[in-house]
Amino acid sequence: MTNFQQSEALSRVQPSTTLAVTQKARELKAAGRDIISLGAGEPDFDTPDFIKDAAIQAIRDGKTKYTAVDGIPELKQAVATKFKRDNNLDYDLDQISIAPGGKAILYNALVATMNPGDEVIIPAPYWVSYPDMALLAGGKPVIVKADASNGFKLSPEALEAVITPKTKWLIFNSPSNPTGAAYTHNEIKALTDVLLRYPHVMVMSDDMYEHIVYDGFEFATPAEVEPALYDRTLTVNGASKAFAMTGWRIGFAGGPKPMIKAMAKVMSQSTSNPSSISQWASVAALNGDQSFLKERNDAFKERRDLVVSMLNQANGLTCATPEGAFYVYPSCEGVIGKATPNGVKISSDEDFAAALLEDEGVAIVFGAAFGLSPYFRVSYAAAIEQLEDACQRIQRFCASLT
Ligand SMILES: Cc1ncc(COP(=O)(O)O)c(C=O)c1O
Repeated sequence: MTNFQQSEALSRVQPSTTLAVTQKARELKAAGRDIISLGAGEPDFDTPDFIKDAAIQAIRDGKTKYTAVDGIPELKQAVATKFKRDNNLDYDLDQISIAPGGKAILYNALVATMNPGDEVIIPAPYWVSYPDMALLAGGKPVIVKADASNGFKLSPEALEAVITPKTKWLIFNSPSNPTGAAYTHNEIKALTDVLLRYPHVMVMSDDMYEHIVYDGFEFATPAEVEPALYDRTLTVNGASKAFAMTGWRIGFAGGPKPMIKAMAKVMSQSTSNPSSISQWASVAALNGDQSFLKERNDAFKERRDLVVSMLNQANGLTCATPEGAFYVYPSCEGVIGKATPNGVKISSDEDFAAALLEDEGVAIVFGAAFGLSPYFRVSYAAAIEQLEDACQRIQRFCASLT
């Protein structure tokens, strides 16, 4: 089609930067370049065998047909049990939605609730998709800074300052993509205390990285911390990160009955049900032995510590130690204004990322994509040798800047 024109709604949004970086790294690799890609947001571990076995069994048993739009009762039950077990939250089965990925859950919820002009409060740095999803759903993202001075966490004062009569949602994400910052129970309580004063504001709590926390950190989620917010909170989670199941596409949420019903209506006229096979695999994942989560966290922690230490040794970089997820978000403020040996000037984190990829073949995502500069995101979901190599290259690159 030569005269293709995209819709106005789509014109307002950007393609996912993180996916674009991963794709660029893949292309350079295919072209023969020696590339280390630390851009992707997925565990490098494989899906555990007991989960794969459940999927194979589901195929053999002919569980290969359409299912109920927002999930099979068995998976809803497993999700309800998980919410009770891990978060002390009680949800009936008609308060649970299953969708093709955490992304779909968030998107369905926004489409099901947003009216033109409605505002969505998004702390920055944010996961790249939140603002664009809000725009696609016809709303207005309201970005509020949660910068390094407060450990990349939203303060109650900053939250209160951006609430208006048009605020529909606060999107809350802990542990965070891209910073790895996680809110303690008390830090969440300070925010929910503000929200208690604004009954028209709903909370979308994106808990995708719940299980990836370190040093004894105790995960908490808003509906658990403040039961008075239970009726206006959507607690979002999924199989992707915890169970290394990014390709299986299963996300889930617990929330108020009418909202869950509205989300099912969106799915009924768009995606229909998530893959039946992935749903059965997720039943096994949630009901099975969870001890591998700890083993994987131990490996992630070793990598986090290595990456933080090595990045802090690079000229001009400073890197905080995050509580969770598998990302670090170092500042590159100290190299802004410098130039590479080839004379390429580093004026922004985007320039830094491009020059690092060009000179040393390390793919990371620049901070502007997440709404807070000058920073960059490193995903340390990679083998330790690869991380060591990548960090040495970053150190060499920073040392080469003048
Ligand atoms: C914070 C956050 N929320 C949601 C998602 C989406 O997860 P899924 O792959 O299940 O759609 C991601 C994935 O990168 C994420 O980082």
